[in-house]
Amino acid sequence: MSQSIQIEGMTFDILLSRDVIAKRTQELGAEIARDFQDRNPIFIGVLNGSFVFMSDLVRSCHIPCEMDFIKISSYGDEMTTSGEVKMLKDYDSLVHNRHLILVEDIVDSGLSIEFLRHKFDLQNIASVSVVSLLFKEANAKLQKPIEYVGFNIPDRFVIGYGLDYKQQFRNLDAIYALRDEGEE
Ligand code: IMP
Ligand code: MG
Repeated sequence: MSQSIQIEGMTFDILLSRDVIAKRTQELGAEIARDFQDRNPIFIGVLNGSFVFMSDLVRSCHIPCEMDFIKISSYGDEMTTSGEVKMLKDYDSLVHNRHLILVEDIVDSGLSIEFLRHKFDLQNIASVSVVSLLFKEANAKLQKPIEYVGFNIPDRFVIGYGLDYKQQFRNLDAIYALRDEGEE
């Protein structure tokens, strides 16, 4: 595992190693298993970024459950949110009276998760919870706290473990953060 990587003249330093991510993901899976023991929840992964985290999370959560995916977009290929959320693929499950767990790679501005909570608010759902591997606490404007957070991280652009820069680097097995200017 490299300590830092160079991309287009920028330096990204390791923030969370594979082992640190794995340990925390197991804790989250166990916690969700305790809380949703007899509720047969539906995990709803928010594509694309959450697919790596979701696959490890659900395998650490040893209870009956279902899985589905939705796809939204707010970033395009930029490093900051466009301020507008688009629904690109909706879920297929019957969600009436079910417990939903939205799975995110990262909550940054909070725009995406607020949009999704609002969407599910309008339907007859038993409960909606959110699990996010990463949380940029300093940025997020939220009506309601995130129920399960893996790591609070500083306001730096991150890649790896599902997170992309221009659709690349999702397959890095650790998480790397863009070095702050003047840090060198
Ligand atoms: P939000 O709507 O600003 O909370 O951001 C939501 C989505 O933007 C996340 O689910 C990610 O897919 C993407 N995103 C936010 N911050 C980063 C980052 O630092 N690196 C890569 N993708 C990010
Ligand atoms: Mg995402």
